This record gives sequence, C-alpha cells and structure tokens, in this order.
Amino acid sequence: MSELRYDGQVVVVTGAGGGLGKAYALFFASRGASVVVNDLGGSFKGEGTSSKAADVVVDEIKAAGGKAVANYNSVTDGDKIIETAIKTYGRIDVLLNNAGILRDISFKNMSDKDWDLIIDVHVKGSYKCAKAAWPHFRKQKYGRVINTASAAGLFGSFGQCNYSAAKLAMVGFTETLAKEGAKYNIYANVIAPIAASRMTETVMPPDVLASLKPDWIVPLVACLVHKDSKENGSIFEAGGGHVAKLRWERSNGLLLKADDTYTPGAILKKWDKVNDFSKDAQYPTGVADFMGLLEESMKMGPNDKGETLDFKGKVALVT
Ligand code: NAI
Repeated sequence: MSELRYDGQVVVVTGAGGGLGKAYALFFASRGASVVVNDLGGSFKGEGTSSKAADVVVDEIKAAGGKAVANYNSVTDGDKIIETAIKTYGRIDVLLNNAGILRDISFKNMSDKDWDLIIDVHVKGSYKCAKAAWPHFRKQKYGRVINTASAAGLFGSFGQCNYSAAKLAMVGFTETLAKEGAKYNIYANVIAPIAASRMTETVMPPDVLASLKPDWIVPLVACLVHKDSKENGSIFEAGGGHVAKLRWERSNGLLLKADDTYTPGAILKKWDKVNDFSKDAQYPTGVADFMGLLEESMKMGPNDKGETLDFKGKVALVT
C-alpha cells in the first residue's frame, strides 16, 4: 500500500506549537500539505502569549523542505486563522481543532474565570475556526474536520468539571457538523487522545508518559482526514498505539403504557430493565432512533383516555 499523501491540500492545525498539534503539523507537511501552524504561545493554563511556539514549528517544517506559515491568534479569533490559510495558500481543506488549555480545580473551588476560559478556548475556539472554514468547505464541496475531546469529557474526571463539559461539547458539535456536512463531502470526527505533553506530564509517571508519544495519535488523524476516508461523525480513542471507536449504547429499556399506571413506582419496579444492557441493547445514532421507540409505543394502542403518542412525541387524541 502506498503512503497516504496530502499534496496540494491546506491543513490548519490549531495549537500546533507543541504536543499533539506540533506532531500533526510536522506530519502533514512531510506528506505534501501546506500547513497553517497556529499557536497563541501561552502557558498550559492559558496565560500569556508568544509567537515563538508557532515559529519554531514553522522553521522546522521549512528546514525539512515543507510548506508552512505561522499564525499567532487565539482560536477564539478563529476567523483570523482561516484568513491566514486563505491569504497564504488560497484554500483550506483540513481543520484540526486541537488547541487547548487546562484550569483544573475541584468544582467546589472553581471560579467563573476557570469555567469561562476553558469553555472559551475549547468550545468557542473550535466553533470559530469551523465557522470560518465552513463556507470554503461548502463551496469546494470538500472539507475534513477533527475536533478534540478527551476521556475527561466522555467519562468525567475529578477536578476537571470545566474541561469535561467543554470536551463532551466537542462530541455533540462534531456529530452535528457531520450530519450537516455529509452531503457536501465535509466529514467531521472527534478524537479523545491520550499522549505525553506538557498537559499530562505532571499527572502521569515518566514510564507511562514514555509509551504515550504524541506521534502515535497522528496515524488515526491522518486516516480520518484523508480525501478517501468516508468516516463521518464518529468518536475515537487513541493513544500509545491503540485506536478504538466509541458509540452510544442504549439499554433495551422499559416500555410502559402511557396511562394512569405510568407512575414513578411503575418505573422503579422494573428499574433492572432500565439498566439492563445484556439483551437487545441498541446503538442509536440520531433522534430518529428515539422516534422509532415512540412508534413501538403507538403499537400499544391508546390509553384509557383515548390518547396515544404521535410521531412528533406529542400526546395526540385518537379520534
Ligand atoms: P499542549 O499544551 O502540549 O498543546 C496545546 C497547544 O495549544 C499549546 O501549544 C498552546 O499554546 C496552544 N493553545 C492554547 N490555547 C490556545 C489558544 N487560545 N489559541 C491558540 N493556541 C492555543 O497539549 P496537548 O496535550 O498537545 O493537547 C492537545 C489537545 O488534546 C488539547 O485540546 C487537549 O485538551 C487534548 N487532549 C490531550 C490529552 C493528552 O493526553 N495530552 C488528553 C485528552 C485531550
């Protein structure tokens, strides 16, 4: 199999001055892409700025014969980052929403500033970049987006309430972009990486960090954003050479007749069934899947008041 190439494509990598972003930038430049190396150059807590972080990576790419341009804006000014791509290279094909910071603190002690800053950089930042790239993607009927979630978002993590909220937001954001973009050949996927970087160096032991190189997140992202990839709207975990897909699982659940017997007690009585994933669990991918359940509910017929559920989820009177 020949290697995946990105010749003639323009890849924007946010937060590309270090960690995962740097690994992405170096890789895509080495495979023929022109890369916008964005980095604000602040601390991992989101303090300060410096053009050095992005410059060092651009220099490294150029020294290796690749094409790259630096951008120093915050992702919250994502339009300026995309503008750099358009002004310098005339197009954008791939957006890697990667920039991120941490403000870890227990929920009890979290300040509004800790909350706002995290939501701003991760959620608003990803939105602003995608929003500015979108018209270009639609016009050229081509685009690839990677958003960056985290295990903290998928599962929760002590001391990371702000970050968890922001990271799970990336999942919903991606799933909707995927649905809206599909017919324009714009595909969006979200990854929950795990890798050694300044973000994780204080929370993981050195031997574990040694087996979690940022470079080992790159192959998954490279597959997902390649022009031949059809993957869209999916969630992946990657780290240390392991790659896996995640999806929502719904227990087969409980279907009770919507009449006077549909009480809290009736649900409690069959609580085990609500929680039972062992048989006939489902893997919903959209709201329509829930509507399907309502259809089942309709088959149960009207309740004793002559009401039944219609497909819009409203209670309708059967005449
Ligand atoms: P990192 O701290 O090494 O790199 C993040 C980069 O983003 C830094 O160079 C920083 O200057 C830049 N940045 C921060 N705020 C910015 C802003 N407003 N505008 C532009 N650039 C900004 O961290 P790492 O580990 O490489 O993280 C990359 C992404 O992966 C982040 O979104 C992070 O939340 C996520 N992630 C990382 C994990 C890990 O194990 N390293 C685990 C889960 C998620």
